[in-house]
Amino acid sequence: MAQFILSSAPPEKDGETITFELFENERPRQGFILRRNGELLAFLNECPHWSVDLDLGDEDFYDQKIDRIYCKNHGALFVLPDGECETGPCLGRKLIRFEVQANQDDLRILLPPPYSTSATSRDKNGAR
Ligand code: FES
Repeated sequence: MAQFILSSAPPEKDGETITFELFENERPRQGFILRRNGELLAFLNECPHWSVDLDLGDEDFYDQKIDRIYCKNHGALFVLPDGECETGPCLGRKLIRFEVQANQDDLRILLPPPYSTSATSRDKNGAR
């Protein structure tokens, strides 16, 4: 499992998010970190319905009034902290969640395969 160290302060206030860049094999992707009830939660910016960005690019993922992450494409709502879709076309499916820890000067995000901090290539047998 890759450990991604992000030299960035965590979101300070409840409801705030920051984004980070990562790779899924060779494909550039985006993740986001949300502060909720003092806890940090990290997810891949991808809706399980169509595998597209949740936010349509504006980095707005969370509705604090209803305490849900939402998808701007078709309105799916995701319950926290697990990111399970409770209403919408991906009912019962989950956002991809990453472990995140805040240290004094950085954030550490654990990225399970196939996610990493740099593009990787695989041979035809899947080895790196
Ligand atoms: S793409 Fe997210 S609900 Fe359809």
